[in-house]
Amino acid sequence: MKIGVFDSGLGGLYLLSSMVMSKDLSKYDYVYLGDTKNLPYGEKNQRQILELTSKGVDFLFRQGCQLVIVACNTSSAQALRKIQQNFLPKYYQDRRVLGVIRPTVELIKAGDTCVIATNATVKAKAYTRELRKLNSALKISEIPAPELVPLLETNQLAKLEKAVRKYSAIIENKKVKNLILGCTHYAIIGDKFAQSLGKGIKLISQDKVVPIKLLDYLNRHPKIDKKLTKKRQRKIYVTKLSLDFAKNARTWFGQKVKLELAKI
Ligand code: DGL
Repeated sequence: MKIGVFDSGLGGLYLLSSMVMSKDLSKYDYVYLGDTKNLPYGEKNQRQILELTSKGVDFLFRQGCQLVIVACNTSSAQALRKIQQNFLPKYYQDRRVLGVIRPTVELIKAGDTCVIATNATVKAKAYTRELRKLNSALKISEIPAPELVPLLETNQLAKLEKAVRKYSAIIENKKVKNLILGCTHYAIIGDKFAQSLGKGIKLISQDKVVPIKLLDYLNRHPKIDKKLTKKRQRKIYVTKLSLDFAKNARTWFGQKVKLELAKI
């Protein structure tokens, strides 16, 4: 069986590229689904996000995934708990769904923290809740950055650089120790944030976090690991094909990468 990765679009694919580059994770078989037809999830309400995420996870299970990583922070914040508590016990008792928020905040030991994320993630306050569980004394702020996902999906570099400078100035003003890039898409421009922020801020980006945490999970769950096939297969599905998506996929997975259309 395979490892599934779900996101609304390019961000999760970038995360997957960092997983398959990791020596210990490259041997597994992966299926990716980007719900490009319905993005941005960050502008949707909880009911819509739950419905779309459940359909996406169901699609990945039907492709033979034992484990699905809901890489999308917006889905993790707004839908993960309901999927784990209702959808899984009802339809797929022996499969697993993992989110990305808890593993990300586990990297914060101390220091005031700012989270930059989509509107719907900020609204859910899931990062604040999880961070408080780890350290109730932390000062936490969450900033929505709704324009970044559409700019990333359409490769608008000049506008992205301007937006990164704008958000960096807001974050620096808050005098925080940590910045969490709380949207998979923002990892794609993690180096731009790093360049534009002052040196004193620790940047937490999920392309670095998720591979480490996945490996740790598989080491702690040998029964699941045993079920996973290790033939280095990668299948990439999207719900809508676009040239910009294909261009990025080729950059990260090579010229021969094939994108398949999924109906969910
Ligand atoms: N990449 C997703 C996330 O991590 C959401 C992007 C979107 O708004 O669709 O939150």
